[in-house]
Amino acid sequence: MSSSVVRAGAFLHHLQLESADPERLSRFYAEALNMRRETAGAGFLCSGPGRKLLVTRGQSQKLGYAGFACRDAEGLADIRENARKSGIEILPSPSPLFAEGAFAVSDPDGNRIVFGLARHDNDETNGLHAPLQHLTLATFDVAAIENFYADKLGFLVSDRVINDKGEAATCFMRSNHEHHTLACFKSDRQGVDHHSYEAGEWIRIRDWADRFGAMEIPLMWGPGRHGPGNNLFIFIVDPDGNWIEVSAELEVIYDRPVKHWPHGERTLNLWGRAILRS
Ligand SMILES: [Fe+2]
Repeated sequence: MSSSVVRAGAFLHHLQLESADPERLSRFYAEALNMRRETAGAGFLCSGPGRKLLVTRGQSQKLGYAGFACRDAEGLADIRENARKSGIEILPSPSPLFAEGAFAVSDPDGNRIVFGLARHDNDETNGLHAPLQHLTLATFDVAAIENFYADKLGFLVSDRVINDKGEAATCFMRSNHEHHTLACFKSDRQGVDHHSYEAGEWIRIRDWADRFGAMEIPLMWGPGRHGPGNNLFIFIVDPDGNWIEVSAELEVIYDRPVKHWPHGERTLNLWGRAILRS
């Protein structure tokens, strides 16, 4: 199956989150998510192995932008050409973490997504394994989000959750071999639902939960196992109310047909209770 973003091996490289209290939020990520923290421009940069988060002053729980890094310049050029042909406006990149040549697009809900090549000048970090892996949006209109990312930008749909009206309540899309790097839930609000770090091995879920436990950060959901993606998960909440997922064993896809799941608790959590968004 042809897809420019999958050929480019695009992966979620960093997020910029806005916060009314960037000092407090960046401290939380540095400590809880085991990252180094430094000032960056008017805000902060938190860096850990495979994960980077920029925090800037603004409206809490608002995504500034999400940065997807491509494998090489040809891949990046391919995505840009595909976006242009689909009539998507190409915007300048706001990200200091990407090299020259990066560009941004704005989705139908106004979420800003940046594609670029990672600068590797700041990658000497140690810490518990869990690279930044996926971003999940909340939207009124799942079909519009799927149309933008899949039909226009070239993400591939992995799974959909279908409600009893026959509409997609959730859509999971990939930009590489990972089951989803971008997903969206039908919701009564727009913006970010959560973002996720992929610990890989199930035993690291224990290590992360122990870390959060030692810091007296309660799990707000999980441990559980999602149906779509088949990944183990735990969730915590940051001081601004953003949901953070630590996942393991996320399905790897090279090619397979799109799978549809019923809208219900068991789809979201094969082990029991779920937080339904619609
Ligand atoms: Fe997730």
